[in-house]
This record gives sequence, C-alpha cells and structure tokens, in this order.
Amino acid sequence: MTPFALEPPLSQPLIESNVSLKPFNTFGVDVQAAGLAHLASLDELRAVLADPAWQGVPRLVLGGGSNMLFTRDFPGLVLRVELQGRTKVDEDAQAVYARGMAGESWHDFVQWTIAQGWAGLENLSLIPGTVGASPIQNIGAYGVEIKDCFHSLDAIELATGQLRQFLLADCAFAYRDSVFKGALAGRYLVVSVTFRLPKQPCWHTGYGEIQQELATRQVTELSARAIADAVIAIRRRKLPDPAEIGNAGSFFKNPVVEASLAAALRERFPALPAYPQPDGRSKLAAGWLIDQCGWKGRSLGAAGVYEKQALVLVNCGGASGADIWRLAEAIRASVYERFGVELEPEPVRC
Ligand code: EPU
Repeated sequence: MTPFALEPPLSQPLIESNVSLKPFNTFGVDVQAAGLAHLASLDELRAVLADPAWQGVPRLVLGGGSNMLFTRDFPGLVLRVELQGRTKVDEDAQAVYARGMAGESWHDFVQWTIAQGWAGLENLSLIPGTVGASPIQNIGAYGVEIKDCFHSLDAIELATGQLRQFLLADCAFAYRDSVFKGALAGRYLVVSVTFRLPKQPCWHTGYGEIQQELATRQVTELSARAIADAVIAIRRRKLPDPAEIGNAGSFFKNPVVEASLAAALRERFPALPAYPQPDGRSKLAAGWLIDQCGWKGRSLGAAGVYEKQALVLVNCGGASGADIWRLAEAIRASVYERFGVELEPEPVRC
C-alpha cells in the first residue's frame, strides 16, 4: 500500500503565540504554550517544520488531547494535528483497507466504517481522541485493541520531515503501549492510519457487560451496529463525557503482576478481579483496588475520583494539572500500602 506523497509547501499554517491549551485537552487544564500550530494539511506541516522562527524549540504533537495531563506551561511549539479525510484504499478477497487521516475524530471514523458495512472497530466506539492518537497507546476496550485491525500508519519524522510507513511489526503494540510511547516517543507525527477490516467478521462479545446489554436490547442477530450501540450505551452510563466533566478516561493502567502475587492477593481478597494473561501473569482491576481504598467519589481540592468508576480522575472545576497529579500520587500510595501493587498512569504527563 503506497504511503502519502509529500507535496512542496504551498500554504502557511496558522500559528498562535502564547495561547491557552485549555480547549485542547480533555482534562480542561489551563496551561500556556509558547506556540500552537494548527495543521490542516501535510503542506502546512512541512512549512512549520521548515519555519526558522520555530527551530530549536521543543515540539509536542497533540491530537484530541484526551490522553495528556499538562502540569506546567509548555515552552515550545504544539503541533495540533487537524488533517481530515477517510477513504477505502484497497480491498481483497478477505478484507477492506480503510484509512483515516490523523485529525479525524476516532469515534466518527469508527461510525463511518460501520455505516460502510465494515466490521472490526465496533467495540472501540465512543473512545475520545483522534485517529492519529489511536496507535500511540494502542487504544482498547471490551476485548479489542486497535492492533487487532491495524494494517499500517504513515508518520513524519519531526527532525527530518521524512515520511515513513510503519507496519504492524514495527509498532511494538502492547497493552496501552507502542513504540511511539517508548523508543520513538516524541520523534514522529502520525499522518494517517490504515485498518484491515475483515469481510468475515469476528464478533467480540465475551465481555460480560456487552452480553448483558445485548440481552437487554433483545439483539438476536449480531452486527457491528448492534455491538457499537451496546458499547456506546455502556460507556455513556459509566464514563463521564469530557465535554461536561474534564477527564482522560482511565487514569491508570490495569496492573499486570506475577501469578504468585495475584494468587496471594486473591487469597486475602477473594473478590479481587484478576484476568490471566497469555504469559502466565495476571491483570488486576485497578478500579477495584482504588475503590477498595475508599477513593470513589472523593476529591482533593478541585481534582476528584469519578463517583461511578474509580479508575477515572476528573476535574471538578478549575483543577490544575498539578492538582490532578497530586491526587493520582495519593491514590498510588494508598493502593501500594494496602495491596503492594504499583499503579502506572495511562495519560502522558507533560
Ligand atoms: N471496578 C470496581 N470499582 C470501580 C471500577 C471498577 O470494583 O470503581 C471493578 C468492576 O466491577 C470490574 C473490574 O473492576 O469487575 C473492571 O472494571 P471495568 O470492567 O469497568 O473495566 P476497567 O478495568 O475499569 C478497562 C479499560 C477501559 C475500557 C474497559 C472496558 C484500562 C485501564 N481501562 O476499564 O478503558 O473501556 O476496560 O474494556 O484498561 C481507557 O483506557 O480510558 C478506558 C476507559
């Protein structure tokens, strides 16, 4: 599959100076960036990478800002990816290949694939953020991760402006992780992502809540639409809408621990949800651990723990990134003290 060709720079991007990032992160944290470039085309991206006024300053790639916690002002240039477009790029006997430009809303892209009659991404409905951000932490929900349908992505190396295609094996996808959070962190800007959507769908309804929701809705014939609708209903019930309450979804990853520690904990706490992993270790429900420490619905200043899901930290109004981080640290300390388990934050702190 051919990647995008880069055109010579023609148009100049809009670059704002000394701008608040509050509208650009779903926590609604108010920090200042020295510069903010709105990138609606590859052309504008090339122009900004070549702009002498912004050489030598730190750069930060920002999609929907739904997995980011700003704890201080950013002294450099924020590259806000606003590239739009989605298209079928190929088809073979087994699958269609659908490409989304990086600035597309993830949820809108998923709903578009479903409207085309394609399946594979339905369990990932209503996840906030953009198509371009989806591979960075290999977004996942209800038994599916994007790696399951990922074909390739095109990305620009910020240092050189070179376009590079990454295939599945290049991305080192793991639970809420990829090479773009690890060895290549901060080096690439994702331009587009291409998904391989199988013509013979394989439904993932094993997650208990999906089964219950489908039964309540009396769904007898599975379809991508029916599963997406069930997922949307569950998420609306359990997770706060960032447009109403600032949040970044799950604040912590579910910790994966050695089987021996999981067994010892289950002995002491038989209700602890623990899911065996292919490597023999166990994934524990961080939400349960936090809930057991009494944090659900509590707050420290303007930063709080969502009352319906202890894994989600919220901005109760006017919280700074430092307030949210302080709460996260207090939660980590109490979970460690009670269970001996280290929690790792999911959002990137900046
Ligand atoms: N639980 C509690 N109390 C809580 C929260 C959860 O006891 O306050 C228990 C639940 O009863 C359940 C278990 O913990 O037995 C797991 O909870 P849930 O099924 O709600 O899933 P989760 O582990 O909290 C993960 C993902 C979500 C994803 C859901 C569904 C992570 C870090 N989070 O949440 O992803 O939507 O599973 O697949 O893996 C996100 O990453 O932002 C996100 C929302």
